Amino acid sequence: ATAEQGTNLLSSETAAQSAPAQTITILYGSQTGNGRGVASELAAKAQAQGYAVNLASMGDYKVRQLKQETILLAVVSTHGEGEAPDDAIELHKFLASKRAPKLDNLNYSVLALGDTSYEFFCQTGKDFDERLTALGAKSIQPIALCDVDYESAAEQWQQSVLEAVKPLIDTSGASVVSLSGAGLPGATTSAFTKQKPFTAELLVSQKLTGRDSDRDVRHVEIDLGESGIRYQAGDALGVWFTNSETLVDELLTKLSLEGDEAVTVGKDALSLKQALIEKKELTQLYPGLIKDWSALSGNGELIAIAEDKELTRQFVHNNQLADLVTNYSAEVTALQLLSMLRPITPRLYSIASSQSEVESEVHLTVALVEDDRDGIARFGGASQFLAQADEAAEIKVYVEPNNHFRLPQNPETPVIMVGPGTGVAPFRAFMQERAAQGIEGNSWLIFGNPHFEQDFLYQTEWQQYLNDGSLSRIDLAFSRDQEHKIYVQHKIAEQGEELWRWLESGAHFYICGDAERMAKDVHQALLDVAVKFGGKSAEEADAYFENLRSEKRYQKDVY
Ligand code: 2AM
Repeated sequence: ATAEQGTNLLSSETAAQSAPAQTITILYGSQTGNGRGVASELAAKAQAQGYAVNLASMGDYKVRQLKQETILLAVVSTHGEGEAPDDAIELHKFLASKRAPKLDNLNYSVLALGDTSYEFFCQTGKDFDERLTALGAKSIQPIALCDVDYESAAEQWQQSVLEAVKPLIDTSGASVVSLSGAGLPGATTSAFTKQKPFTAELLVSQKLTGRDSDRDVRHVEIDLGESGIRYQAGDALGVWFTNSETLVDELLTKLSLEGDEAVTVGKDALSLKQALIEKKELTQLYPGLIKDWSALSGNGELIAIAEDKELTRQFVHNNQLADLVTNYSAEVTALQLLSMLRPITPRLYSIASSQSEVESEVHLTVALVEDDRDGIARFGGASQFLAQADEAAEIKVYVEPNNHFRLPQNPETPVIMVGPGTGVAPFRAFMQERAAQGIEGNSWLIFGNPHFEQDFLYQTEWQQYLNDGSLSRIDLAFSRDQEHKIYVQHKIAEQGEELWRWLESGAHFYICGDAERMAKDVHQALLDVAVKFGGKSAEEADAYFENLRSEKRYQKDVY
């Protein structure tokens, strides 16, 4: 009874920090939401079996709590060259550091999500597993290493770990204990998930960029109708799409395949053509496919690419299936093709609206990815789908919460928002939210794009916010309106003194957009500002922003 009372007194907030004994702590490190999904499912199953559960993102977890845990189930993904997802970085580092405590009382198991076609498959999960063992914790179920189609492996692991915890827990004391909904982020956001999306209706798909722009950026409005879906500024929308029929017809022709033969994908029986339109990833390559295709085609050039990590990385980045099929001919049967191709996956877009303003709608800022070098048509699967969808088209969507990209709790806290290109999307959501709350000033937007005339996304809206005082200042980096490039990081350098003042007065700093170059360059510009205007050494500057990050005052939504 005491366990029960004790737990009921805990608010969901404090539960994340001080879970009672015999609670199963489930932690996830998740970049795209898959890890969060698996962890939330596990939490729901564990609760249904009467266990007390504490579910949290690794990013929200207090590492000093670790010593008190008795059962820890961790779900963590791996990205790129063996990197941990953002919300797992700190815990990952901590476990490898000298500060990590002995964990003799801990029972644990890890589920690792990864991609077998990359060299450092599931590396982060493997690290967690290794470190926990090294610290004295006892593995109650061997690590599950999951590939891209992780669903059934994840289900098996969930079952096995729940079996394995049974003898460890005396459920008589814990059976009625359950945390309030807020402890289960997956359960509260909405009934609609990646696997069970809501069928929404397209309201508007409107070009934002000018007629002479090199870019085609769309403003998309979607009606969430009576779904009851709630989202917060900073969240992303998962959008399912189907491949273009034209693309599929072209591929079939090049492969000398008929589209009408009957095939089965999962539980569905359908034609090959329909399978390619609805079920398979055709617009994103991945290393495993290059390898398979090179073996099939026997082409020396492609084999050389497949055998070299860096060449493969570049090839995947610059090409699509249409390139493979056009430039490296191979004989392939329908069944071979289907087994080589991955299932289609939804794309995540940072939401560009706040429900305080748009209620049951959700807005997106979508760059249409298009490229027809050498007469081969390449485009982004989801952006093309959204751009071509007719008004009132049905679109399957779900909200992917992002607790690591949030406005400050205190409305007085200043915000600096750096969002070039479509990276401006969540800041439109931020500004709508702040305006709805009547928050004045203390907000600074730094935006960049090629040309003022053609590419000033949402220009009139920013003007309006400046006029009514909700936006304090805007700095613009139009990169191609003059001979030399001007980027957002140049604006940061130029306004360094003022920016430093804002940071020192407690501002939160946000970056959204390109991860590969922009976010890194902006980070460097920040370090330079701290050196130049904050009088910091290089090491101190590093530590300064590391500290901002851990205080959640430096947040990124980059892709
Ligand atoms: P560019 O295409 O003229 O080089 C949005 O895509 C804006 O970001 C464009 O103006 C683009 O400029 C710019 N951009 C390109 N590389 C960048 C980088 N490394 N840092 C910041 N902005 C960059």
